Amino acid sequence: MITTTGLTKVYRSSQSRGREVTALDGVDLHVREGEVFGVVGQSGAGKSSLIRCVNLLERPTSGTVTVAGQDLTALAGRGRRAGTELRRARSSIGMVFQHFNLLSSRTVKDNVELPLEILGVSGQDRSRRALELLDLVGLGDKAKAYPAQLSGGQKQRVGIARALAGNPKVLLSDEATSALDPETTRSILQLLRDLNRQLGLTVLLITHEMEVVKTICDSAALMEKGRIVESGTVAEVLATPGSALAAALFPVSGDASGDDRTLVDVTFHGDAATRPVISRLARVYNIDISILGAAMDTVGGKQVGRMRIELPGRYEENVVPIGFLREQGLRIEVLGQEPEPAKDGAK
Ligand SMILES: Nc1ncnc2c1ncn2[C@@H]1O[C@H](COP(=O)(O)OP(=O)(O)OP(=O)(O)O)[C@@H](O)[C@H]1O
Ligand SMILES: [Mg+2]
Repeated sequence: MITTTGLTKVYRSSQSRGREVTALDGVDLHVREGEVFGVVGQSGAGKSSLIRCVNLLERPTSGTVTVAGQDLTALAGRGRRAGTELRRARSSIGMVFQHFNLLSSRTVKDNVELPLEILGVSGQDRSRRALELLDLVGLGDKAKAYPAQLSGGQKQRVGIARALAGNPKVLLSDEATSALDPETTRSILQLLRDLNRQLGLTVLLITHEMEVVKTICDSAALMEKGRIVESGTVAEVLATPGSALAAALFPVSGDASGDDRTLVDVTFHGDAATRPVISRLARVYNIDISILGAAMDTVGGKQVGRMRIELPGRYEENVVPIGFLREQGLRIEVLGQEPEPAKDGAK
């Protein structure tokens, strides 16, 4: 649904005496139809640049952007007439912003109508559509209110309704929840998830909150210095040995309680996650297992996450129980040992 190939963005600013900043350095992104895709990464990694290039708010330096089968970069490049075509193509992409960007002099309903005015939709149709959208985001009773009279979460709901006005296939969101408190964040994420399911909307969202990825994303990518360094479904990422994204999503810590101990990080993904493997391990080998730390969550209806356990005795004494864990389909990393090689299918 969204594909970028070799997407590059170099900023040249006049203030810094022609110094160049490479914000995107050959990004190949692929977002499937109907999925919620999260992009995470440190500040300055190029996340906002990526999303602004995807809807051509920012002109890529090189590379292509295809959304819903249409090559936007080609449209942008074709002279003056292309402006109209690009604008039309862009109306199938909704955009939600961190700071809502609502017009304070307009009512909630008039804010939602704004993109429809630009598209030349007649007054009556605009009004009907705006009220429909406000119902959809749970603000049916706020049509006549002004943005200043709304809470942050309500303002973001207006922002989402406005983004949906042009019936987009794709919704882009740049830190839509980072100005909100945790509870409001949850309700906005739930709304995005519902819209994704009800309308079949493909969502590409940028966040620095791992919680957001765990709560609603089907897939995720990690950006570093203008590049995508890891990407995949949450289960694929978890199955990847040494994945920085997996460690960030499910951080575990904990130190050994003595010298004569073996620490093992166990990653649960897929079907193995639903079996009580730890208790079975304790029973079968009659050993005491301590859980030092765990970060578990339910993703796509399955328990996924990581756990650090401590087994009595050195590694050499625990080869058999560790082998048992591996046979259960779990990904096992023994601290202080070489990581197991990547399995087929894991990227
Ligand atoms: N309009 C611009 N002109 C010049 N440089 C820019 C511009 N926008 C972004 N940059 C630079 O490009 C790099 C990537 O910025 P970008 O805003 O995409 O990062 P980000 O991942 O969204 O960061 P954050 O998490 O802080 O929002 C940074 O080094 C930034 O300073
Ligand atoms: Mg940003």
